[in-house]
Amino acid sequence: MTVLVPTMGALHKGHQALIKRARSMSKEVVVSIFINPLQFENIDDLEKYPRTPEKDIAIATLAGATEVWMPDYEEIYPGEIKKLSAGALGQIFEGQARPEHFDGMLTVVNRLFEIVKPTAAVFGEKDFQQLAIIKAMKSNVEIIAVPTVREFDGLALSSRNVRLTEQGRKTANVIHRALAAARLAPTVAIAQEIIDTTLATEAGFKRDYAAIIDEDSFEIASNETRHKRGIIAGWIDGVRLIDNMKMGG
Ligand code: PAF
Repeated sequence: MTVLVPTMGALHKGHQALIKRARSMSKEVVVSIFINPLQFENIDDLEKYPRTPEKDIAIATLAGATEVWMPDYEEIYPGEIKKLSAGALGQIFEGQARPEHFDGMLTVVNRLFEIVKPTAAVFGEKDFQQLAIIKAMKSNVEIIAVPTVREFDGLALSSRNVRLTEQGRKTANVIHRALAAARLAPTVAIAQEIIDTTLATEAGFKRDYAAIIDEDSFEIASNETRHKRGIIAGWIDGVRLIDNMKMGG
């Protein structure tokens, strides 16, 4: 059985956790590295996306990859592109801020599945909305979710973190602080207030959204919602950061 770990490179400990999980399931682990232009709405973001192929091969192999596959554009998109739609879930939160992003993401994941034909594929919970959209895609690939790996101060690992300035890096843990402080709040309203007040302590954080949602429907949660999740996105130093955390005991 083949387990696929789709990535865009710039591998870090978060990816290592995905690869290790894949390896715990199978002796055949393919790590794909492809920076998918279809999921970038901003050419600057695409150009600035870190590219570290040699380091990536070393990290992936050490973590247990048996194949590191770096396809080129033509291999993924020969001829006309069969674009997939992420539907309504692709239009809210991250999708509202980044139109086309989830359609592009889903299109490439579908292509990777078509080419590699894995039995299972592993994704991080850090991109929670992405994970939900992939799970909703009709496919016979089993989708495995792995919890977010964090820095010492709680900042979720991301390939984008390297673009933060020294000051921005210090500011960035406000996202995790806000989520962690709200996690055990007795009501949704209080949790939301804690998140709002905590985020407002850092002028360097330009909030995009911060909400407590129903994990399954992505609708705004009420006190009765069984599975709640706090989701936050915003900008620091022109770098977009996102994070999420399960709310409740
Ligand atoms: O999460 C990512 O790195 C990308 O969105 C993915 C799933 C590899 C598709 O390009």
